[in-house]
Amino acid sequence: MNAAVASAPSPVAAAAAAGSPSARIALLGTGTVGRAVLARLAAWEAAPDAAPPAALSLVHVANSRTGFRPDSAAGAVARAARTVAAGAAPSLDELPSRLGDDGVRIVLDATASDAVAERHAEWLARGLHVVTACKLGQGTSLARWRAIGRAQSAGATRYGDSATVGAGLPVLHAIRALRAGGDRIHAVAGVLSGSLAWLFHHYDGLRPFSGFVRQAREAGYTEPDPREDLSGEDVRRKLLILARSAGVALEAEAVAVDSLVPPALAALAPDAVDAALPQIDAPLRERYAAAWKRGEKLRFIARLEDGRARVGLEALAADHPLAGGTDNRVAIWSDRYRAQPLVIQGPGAGAGVTAAAMLDDALAIVAGARRG
Ligand SMILES: NC(=O)c1ccc[n+]([C@@H]2O[C@H](COP(=O)([O-])OP(=O)(O)OC[C@H]3O[C@@H](n4cnc5c(N)ncnc54)[C@H](OP(=O)(O)O)[C@@H]3O)[C@@H](O)[C@H]2O)c1
Repeated sequence: MNAAVASAPSPVAAAAAAGSPSARIALLGTGTVGRAVLARLAAWEAAPDAAPPAALSLVHVANSRTGFRPDSAAGAVARAARTVAAGAAPSLDELPSRLGDDGVRIVLDATASDAVAERHAEWLARGLHVVTACKLGQGTSLARWRAIGRAQSAGATRYGDSATVGAGLPVLHAIRALRAGGDRIHAVAGVLSGSLAWLFHHYDGLRPFSGFVRQAREAGYTEPDPREDLSGEDVRRKLLILARSAGVALEAEAVAVDSLVPPALAALAPDAVDAALPQIDAPLRERYAAAWKRGEKLRFIARLEDGRARVGLEALAADHPLAGGTDNRVAIWSDRYRAQPLVIQGPGAGAGVTAAAMLDDALAIVAGARRG
């Protein structure tokens, strides 16, 4: 792949990049993660000496309402982070032309949009690399996941997904590296939701669980509608991505999900949820008390074993590798790690680490394109 980029505007880290490989990037999404991506690019622009030895030239930024082309003057990325330009959102059809016809071109998907995820395969096949924090590309239907795999071969492109599971913790990397070395993955189990890890670390069985949910929502640890976390849906998508990477091509419906949201609460309109949250308290208090009597801890676990996948609450021995703290933790059993699993642990949520993982993937693509 040709790594040369001609006359790209907004040269991030231009000084550090003189004579070094470069790529044009388009950022979709200016929410929590998108803004963190812009902040990281702006920091590199402001301090070229501390920037990585490759240039990522931001040529297009869009949210669902508007899109704009950052200008080429100094401080362009910082300005882009502040800009809310008037005007209609560009169609996703226009994205390839915004990135130009040649050189290394990368779409950064920092949305939660199914319409954007649906385009990943098409862009890859057309020669655009894709880096995503959004799980809807690989964590939904098996057909879409397979299309993304085929499109990478067809377009000689790469798909950066480090931010989709564990917000950049090297979980997918470890699974792929083990398999590339001939290892077979036997099982994977993990705490994959930062918000649920926080909730079950702090829940003491004495105060109502719903109170902890409200506290977590106010601190920004859960989605504004906490049912999105409590339903296990986000964890289900992450487990699908892990399972498929581990060589188990599961259909989306094959994951058994034990939601914490009772049907009556699931059926309510968003503005009625807060008042009804105490519906979750009694069942969780009972499960907590039963676990506590056995010296166990409740944790929300995603598990892949014998080709079967399930997501839900488990009572674990207090010294179990997945039982402690608020971090994301993933245990991997394989031919190599048969008795003692390989455990990867660390902060697996938050905009800063997610944005860093996305830009790491983009830089790896630039480096790979140069070698190629
Ligand atoms: N937040 C985290 O810590 C975290 C961690 C790991 C992964 N993720 C994943 O990262 C993604 C972004 O999360 P977030 O927290 O940043 O979400 P967010 O704050 O809700 O931001 C989503 C952004 O996507 C934009 N968008 C929606 N449809 C679009 C379209 N068709 N074209 C361009 N932009 C579009 C939205 O535009 P409008 O503003 O116009 O609606 C908004 O700017 C999600 O998939 C999430 O699961 C998040």
